[in-house]
Amino acid sequence: MTEALDILITKVERSKLNEMDFDNLPFGKYFTDHMLEADYENGEWKNVEIKPYQPLLLDPSLAALHYGQAIFEGIKAYKDDNNNAFIFRPYDNLTRFNLSAQRMNMPEVPEEIFIEGMRQLIGIDKNWIPQRRDYSLYIRPFMFSTDAMLGVRPSETYKFLIILSPSGPYFAAPMKILVEETYTRAAPGGVGFSKNAGNYGGSLKAATDAKKEGYDQVLWTDAFEHKWLQEVGMMNVFFLIKGVAVTPSLEEGTILKGVTRDSVMVVLREMGIPVEQRRISIEELIDAHKAGTLQEVFGTGTAATIAPIKELKYKDYVMQFEVQGWTVSPEVKSRLNAIREGKAEDTHGWLVKV
Ligand code: COI
Repeated sequence: MTEALDILITKVERSKLNEMDFDNLPFGKYFTDHMLEADYENGEWKNVEIKPYQPLLLDPSLAALHYGQAIFEGIKAYKDDNNNAFIFRPYDNLTRFNLSAQRMNMPEVPEEIFIEGMRQLIGIDKNWIPQRRDYSLYIRPFMFSTDAMLGVRPSETYKFLIILSPSGPYFAAPMKILVEETYTRAAPGGVGFSKNAGNYGGSLKAATDAKKEGYDQVLWTDAFEHKWLQEVGMMNVFFLIKGVAVTPSLEEGTILKGVTRDSVMVVLREMGIPVEQRRISIEELIDAHKAGTLQEVFGTGTAATIAPIKELKYKDYVMQFEVQGWTVSPEVKSRLNAIREGKAEDTHGWLVKV
């Protein structure tokens, strides 16, 4: 089925690759030579094209710009020492992408376009995959509504694109995090579980306010009591308490079902560390900190992979951690890196060859 995808391919006349400094790649700043674009119209996907990376021409009344029907994913590709390229768990991102699409009243994108299109695109821009430790090719599939019309209703036309960004680490250093009590990221019944653009736009004010206080990001709490811990910035969060890894559960639909979150849970269990997905409150965390049983706190996400948190502040209570002495999250990170870079066996079938 996947071979049948008919993609029109137009390649660049001159690659930008030689202009790149592969030792200095900020996250998401540079893009490869090509992109994939497809249109949804009259109930079907068409015009699937790989072409030179270029600006889009959009009508000012474009529905997505006004009413926010826009979703995306974040995925990474790596290379092993034999120059083979692999994408990490793209089928999981496809599943989540289409869940986001359903929630935002958008059409689903079929596997042939999402996965096969991605493989072909990366195949063409394979030389852009960095090989430095903690570097990768960040893959950004996204979709937005394209009806040119100001009525508030689901659009009838959509665009799906994939762009590729050779990137270094998202966070260069361990983070300082403020527990958020004013703003809310998501409420039950809302769109918190989906990866829609508005979730990220809505988070910026809280992050900006936190930065003014010297913090990198916020730890979101629930909408009603501001006590149940949710996510950190745009990542899932894990707390290692008395040898048990605790991460907020997904049932309420306020938390993104992270692919890295899932990979981390699998690896933790393989390391013999029990994992609990459950509600966890700020009081429980503070009690654990006071008792000396809060051992490690870290965020997980595709962009950031595993991001240690060196300080957490709630009201006037500050929790500081000696990140250098941690053993569990660094081990999870190195096990995941080994799988991604082809240095450890991919026993879970997480890698898809390009
Ligand atoms: C990812 O980890 O891929 C994300 O979605 C974070 C991104 C918004 C930078």
